[in-house]
Amino acid sequence: MKPTRRSVLAAFLAVPSTKAAGIFEANAVSTQSALELTPACQDVDELTIAQTEGPYYKPSSPLKQDFAADAPHGIRITIAGFVLATDCKSINRALVELWHADEHGSYDRVGYRLRGHQFTDESGRWWFSTIIPSLYPGRTRHYHVKVQKPGGSVLTTQLYFPGEPLNERDQIFDERLLLHIRDTGDGKFGRFDFIV
Ligand SMILES: [Fe+2]
Repeated sequence: MKPTRRSVLAAFLAVPSTKAAGIFEANAVSTQSALELTPACQDVDELTIAQTEGPYYKPSSPLKQDFAADAPHGIRITIAGFVLATDCKSINRALVELWHADEHGSYDRVGYRLRGHQFTDESGRWWFSTIIPSLYPGRTRHYHVKVQKPGGSVLTTQLYFPGEPLNERDQIFDERLLLHIRDTGDGKFGRFDFIV
């Protein structure tokens, strides 16, 4: 039986710190779930690339990590990761903001459904419980994110799903922004570490 999203997240949050957890190569495919929970960072790692904000950003999103009630019929996923500096040190109190399309491919332009932000914990970790966004015309499947370390500039970018048929035809898609996805007993778990 596969672990649940909750148990995978709990294991991720139990990893004590960047250095104690050790470092492994970015995007390494491993069946060792413990390894998947450690930061994907090398000492010479490059900054996470920026991408367009797109037309649907809305400022002043709520402090919110759990979007489950916003889309009760969507496919569940928990996404999580670290915010790291280029030397692989974790950054605490970094802002991570997420907004994305719903299970019908629509953005909430009136309220704040499927929009929220949080600050990384003392080990630089962030997570959201949400859904896999549906497609809308002209784009492959994606999330929108903003990441800002304290006192730093805002990184605006997007995250993508591996194996999506439209990835190769999407003008904005970049494989450096692919989530590392695993199946769980009750949905998916996606992992991405931002380097800012
Ligand atoms: Fe979008």
